[in-house]
Amino acid sequence: MEALKSQSVTQSKAALEFVLGMKGGNGDSSYANNSSPQLKIIQAVKPILEHGIYENMRFKFDVGGIFRMADFGCGTGQNTLVVADTIVSAVQRLLTEQEMPEFEVYFTDLPTNDFNSLFQMLPPPRDKNGVATRSYLSAAVCGSHFTRLFARNSLHFCHSSMSLHWLSQVPESVQQRRSPRAYVSSECEEGVAAAYLHQFDTNFSSFLKARAEEIVEGGCMFISLIGRNADTHIMEDQGVLGYSARHLEYAFEALVMEGIITKEKWESFNLPWFNPNLKEVESIVKREGSFAIVSMKIVGGMNAHPTTDVKKGEENMFGRIVANQHRALFENIVEAHLGCKKVTNEFFLKIAERASIQFEEYLSKKIELLVAFLKKKKDKQ
Ligand SMILES: C[S@@+](CC[C@H](N)C(=O)[O-])C[C@H]1O[C@@H](n2cnc3c(N)ncnc32)[C@H](O)[C@@H]1O
Repeated sequence: MEALKSQSVTQSKAALEFVLGMKGGNGDSSYANNSSPQLKIIQAVKPILEHGIYENMRFKFDVGGIFRMADFGCGTGQNTLVVADTIVSAVQRLLTEQEMPEFEVYFTDLPTNDFNSLFQMLPPPRDKNGVATRSYLSAAVCGSHFTRLFARNSLHFCHSSMSLHWLSQVPESVQQRRSPRAYVSSECEEGVAAAYLHQFDTNFSSFLKARAEEIVEGGCMFISLIGRNADTHIMEDQGVLGYSARHLEYAFEALVMEGIITKEKWESFNLPWFNPNLKEVESIVKREGSFAIVSMKIVGGMNAHPTTDVKKGEENMFGRIVANQHRALFENIVEAHLGCKKVTNEFFLKIAERASIQFEEYLSKKIELLVAFLKKKKDKQ
């Protein structure tokens, strides 16, 4: 096969919005079938989310009132529905003493998200006897959450899980460099970490500003994203992302060695992803100024993979599971960069190969999750 030439469509903002989505459908490597680690995260932080709602949401609805919430970067699959059910149930419990509003849930994500599969999973609002089986009405809203997506003062609650670490683009200065490192690491030249942090700052500030305009007075927001405990940016401090980046780099390198892609193709790939620490997020929230921090912390110790043990003889199966998880997250972006389905398949076979050999390294990886409950400040319009 002739070595593929560089054609970077994965680095800039306009292009990324059309390739960033998780893998749709219900196949073996779809996000819907490979997001159990994310579901564990949603379940682990549920008490923090519910506590925040009970302690901070004070609304009084009149007859005919509507409670509106939006899930930003909702993705597709069971996780999305669990989030909606959790929030609606918590608010219903909070409001038992007063007039119950109707609930509207907006599922929001990039246009590439598989909304069709998501809506096919939704239980019908009523069963054949007319009894309510779903406690909310729903709609999809497409677009980048770094921009305004809703009317002013229209949302009571905003949620985002496992999405805000994705950037709108690879930082411009990083796009110029040629490096075998797909992400911030100790081997990266100076300035790369600062460029990623700056990009995260720009994106996250835009997210806060847009939500502040959309949320009603007294409204709240709960976010969870992959964070990091460390002050430094070295690969080893990036937990699961550092390890995933190593998988991607290994696959690129293997394809170069086999003459399938050029070295330039490998070195022009960068992940639009940043894991912030508490200090970084806190300083952005304070500087942007629209939200008060009710609580913010790093939740550590969760396994990055559903399996904690791989028995002898199960290594290849484990490798395939890891490759499928990486396909669910990165296939769209990798295929857009490689520009060829066949080569993309080869790429993920390399990841399966590496994961089956190095499974012990993978099993020890933990996720460091950054969670924050924010409340819109009174003086903000
Ligand atoms: C890992 S999935 C998380 C899905 C779901 N919230 C969960 O916890 O399972 C990340 C989602 O964020 C979405 N996303 C990334 N950047 C986005 C942006 N700028 N605007 C809207 N959605 C975005 C992706 O398309 C993807 O569906």
